[in-house]
Amino acid sequence: MIFRAAVFHVPLNPFSNDQALASFDDGALFVDRGRIIASGDYSDIRAAHPGEPVRDMRGGIILPGLIDTHIHYPQVRALGGIGHTLLDWLEQHTLPEESRFRDNRYAADVADEFLYLLASHGTTTAMVFGAHFAGATAILFEKARASGLRIASGLVLSDRNLRPELHHTPERAYLESTELIRRFHGAGRLLYAVTPRFALSASEAILDVCRTLMQEHSSVRFQTHLNENPDEIQSVAHLFRGAPDYLGAYEHFGLVTRRSVFAHSVHTTDSEITRMAAHSCSVAYCPASNAALGSGFFPFERHLRANVRIALGTDVGGGTGFGILKESLQAYLGQRLAPGGFLLTAPQLLYLCTLAGARAMGLENETGDFTPGKAADFVYLRPPERSPLAAVMRNAPDAEGLLAAVHTLGDAESIRETWVEGECVFQR
Ligand code: GUN
Ligand code: ZN
Repeated sequence: MIFRAAVFHVPLNPFSNDQALASFDDGALFVDRGRIIASGDYSDIRAAHPGEPVRDMRGGIILPGLIDTHIHYPQVRALGGIGHTLLDWLEQHTLPEESRFRDNRYAADVADEFLYLLASHGTTTAMVFGAHFAGATAILFEKARASGLRIASGLVLSDRNLRPELHHTPERAYLESTELIRRFHGAGRLLYAVTPRFALSASEAILDVCRTLMQEHSSVRFQTHLNENPDEIQSVAHLFRGAPDYLGAYEHFGLVTRRSVFAHSVHTTDSEITRMAAHSCSVAYCPASNAALGSGFFPFERHLRANVRIALGTDVGGGTGFGILKESLQAYLGQRLAPGGFLLTAPQLLYLCTLAGARAMGLENETGDFTPGKAADFVYLRPPERSPLAAVMRNAPDAEGLLAAVHTLGDAESIRETWVEGECVFQR
């Protein structure tokens, strides 16, 4: 099938290449058996494949599937809390909600909401904090498999400083994680991610379990939080007196690797940034959450200059919703206002929403842009007639202008269809 519409993607790194954006006003994607065979100008693709059926989607825009590298499934119903900072938000607002996931029926209802909201916002791939309960985490995996989305997730591990019902012994953490890895890692589009919540709620024994799991399973991913809030950082320093800094607590257990994604990294020191780059790990930049919880401005330029991989996360429920396009706007706005902030361009925003996320998750050979051979993961964006984005599109701006408007004005209502590996997983 040939899909005909405007097509945008960023197959190169736009932070080192100012020709990274590929855009086609009258463009096309040629998809066969779930794979991209070609992308480019419609006339070229039509001429090369004259017998193929064409779906005419002109008037809208095809983008690569959006990628959210940091989001919490048990926090859907905790969205919208304002006026907190991290630690009181956790204690008063969020952890009581997460305790409800000991009930599998409750977990199943939220898992349905969660997966629907990802797909309806154009997110095809996500790195997801599961629940503190193996049952609720397995339910997410099962429903994710049925949804068709590409989901990396894992049982959230903690053994101190939360609430007793959210704690695991290291032994149980090992056994339950191992069983979930066996059942779900590599099953269809699912991946497992070893997920200690953060150093503040982890003893050395549980981080040691994480190390063992990462050693025993060479392709599972790793995710946690890092340097989000000053009070959190101070507590971690008290708990890990032998570590030079927050990153050092994870580093000691071999948890800072190419397979690791650290959420936030707002208050990270130069030494930590240098070591993160040396270990080739990634950061999930969560601009809406950083603002909503008053965590601070992400030092984008310092991470970028050191060559630390950066992608975007919504951080639902610390963030403000499921939209990765909206998150890219928050990144743009935050960096405009931040002292020493980085002025982001439209191609950089699209890259952060797509290929950067694939690279952070180790999925760059599978998704993130329209290079032939990758999976046909894409969204069809066509704003409602009377929306601001539709008004701007009638002005026929040039490609970069149009893309800037997509990032500024594109919302869930604009997402008409979401496709994963050539399969439609959402249609409005
Ligand atoms: N640090 C530990 N847990 C959390 C969480 O749920 N959200 C955020 N934003 N930071 C955390
Ligand atoms: Zn988070």
